[in-house]
Amino acid sequence: MNVVNVVPMRSIPRAPPSDPHAPVLTRELVSLVAPKKDGVYVDATLGAGGHAAALLAAAPGARVVGIDRDPGALVLARGRLAPFGERVRVLHGRFSELSSALAGAGLARVDGVIADLGVSSMQLDDAARGMSFRAAGPIDMRMDPTTGVTARALIDDLHDDALAELVARLGEERRARRVARCIKQAAARGELETTLDLRRAVVRAVGPARLGGIDPATRTFQALRMAVNDELGELAALCEAAAQVLVPGGVLAVLAFHSLEDRLVKRTFSDRARWQPLVRKPITASDAEVERNPRARSAKLRAARREAAS
Ligand SMILES: C[S@@+](CC[C@H](N)C(=O)[O-])C[C@H]1O[C@@H](n2cnc3c(N)ncnc32)[C@H](O)[C@@H]1O
Repeated sequence: MNVVNVVPMRSIPRAPPSDPHAPVLTRELVSLVAPKKDGVYVDATLGAGGHAAALLAAAPGARVVGIDRDPGALVLARGRLAPFGERVRVLHGRFSELSSALAGAGLARVDGVIADLGVSSMQLDDAARGMSFRAAGPIDMRMDPTTGVTARALIDDLHDDALAELVARLGEERRARRVARCIKQAAARGELETTLDLRRAVVRAVGPARLGGIDPATRTFQALRMAVNDELGELAALCEAAAQVLVPGGVLAVLAFHSLEDRLVKRTFSDRARWQPLVRKPITASDAEVERNPRARSAKLRAARREAAS
């Protein structure tokens, strides 16, 4: 592991036993950001506040602005971070609104920005959010249920070809054409009301689960969720906003869970006029962490320091 500015391990708090979302690669993330006691840091994916709490605990006096597009996450994080008092500020918004949200909070520049991409365990486990194929829920998938188009509306809006393209590109699903056709047929027959109906349509296209393999609906659900929430467009906006708001020497650290996300971050950091990468290869979770927290399996952590020029 090629990490600079290592923060002493004992300064990273253990997650509470009842943590609704176990944060990934926390120690490594905090080490890369190396928070200073008078620094201001943005957690752009606040979630349940696990990473934010670790940053705050690592540097007494540091402040964190926590942002999330999911209003439910803000309620949860506010409770968890209450012991840090005035050192925490919580804002509702998206990556693409980061610069304006910070300006609204009276902050022109910050010392670090972190992002832990994808969905939280709370979002995944709540059937009403429609992100999981394990329980019946509406085919929604919006991270912010107060705005935007649901996955069901997106399916209705797209022709078979466009749906197949989306499932192939964002889900890397080889049988995307069959998947799209089966989903559209289920909708036409009035058999596409819940996430379990959606899973059934995908299984009809690709066949049942293989022993030890991922659920056959995984790739299609991921593709629809990424499209509904414009996750790649948002990530590109985050990288640009971070370049604008970071002080020279400030750090952007991103945890990606999808090869397209990681590629986008890697490409961003290859602009050496703006970024000095802090790790040569992305940091991944140890076997022990993956055993404790299976979500860590596909995590890739990259970080870079903002250069002074441009
Ligand atoms: C994996 S969770 C973060 C968990 C958090 N690091 C913790 O320790 O609890 C990702 C969170 O980011 C939020 N999110 C994802 N994309 C976002 C975006 N474009 N703008 C703002 N929040 C976003 C989701 O709503 C979700 O709550």
